[in-house]
Amino acid sequence: MHLAIIGGTGLSQIEGIEDVRHKVVSTPFGEPSGPLTIGRLQGCDVVFLPRHGYNHRIPPHQVNYRANIWALQEMDVSRILAVAAVGGIHPDMGPGGLIVPDQLIDYTWGRPSTFYEGDLDSVTHVDFTYPYDQSLRETFLQAGQELGLNMIDGGTYGATQGPRLETAAEVRRLQRDGCDVVGMTGMPEAVLAREAEIQYASLNVVANWAAGIHDGETVSMEGIEKTLGRSMRQVRRVLKQILGGEDSELCSTTRP
Ligand code: HPA
Repeated sequence: MHLAIIGGTGLSQIEGIEDVRHKVVSTPFGEPSGPLTIGRLQGCDVVFLPRHGYNHRIPPHQVNYRANIWALQEMDVSRILAVAAVGGIHPDMGPGGLIVPDQLIDYTWGRPSTFYEGDLDSVTHVDFTYPYDQSLRETFLQAGQELGLNMIDGGTYGATQGPRLETAAEVRRLQRDGCDVVGMTGMPEAVLAREAEIQYASLNVVANWAAGIHDGETVSMEGIEKTLGRSMRQVRRVLKQILGGEDSELCSTTRP
């Protein structure tokens, strides 16, 4: 039973993983975003997979989410800590903020989003009332607290299709719907993990104010990259804190 980290924009590599090997896993759904990086971080065994590929070349709507989750399941992964960049909608969730969402709304379309299709014995509807695993959410929050970071507990993630950013009117709609942050990769990743019975929680890193939140301003990739560069240093500290903590249950010492 192993722990995996799925990295998002700004987290295509994790430095400091020791004893590294790379494993190419083929799945019935095609290729994952890259070979799995398997190694040891802070003395804990960990599997790392960058969602957009090691060179950050796979756009959100073309990530093979099913292959990624399937490959992790093949490695006996039972917990996933995901990291994802988002745009901030809620006034408290501005650039540089770290959020551990507790809800999501899915606006994506046309993405293969279930393992339950094809020649099935029966139809299965997974429970998804609470899309994120509470104990893993607390793992993130506790690490944030131990490091003295201002991590926000809870919020609703709106998953949009991308790869373009939203219009101001779309963001107003997300706001009316109750979304606090907006990103492009949260779904179907979360539901596939649920179907695969892998615990899953996400740490959202606010890269920019969502489109139109500040009248007249547009969203620039330069701004996003600059903010993420700073914030990912904190994310790396959070991940190290989690793996280096006393929580021996999370820290498996048998190699995946
Ligand atoms: N919208 C959608 N996804 C994002 C954004 C955004 O503003 N910023 C980072 N990922």
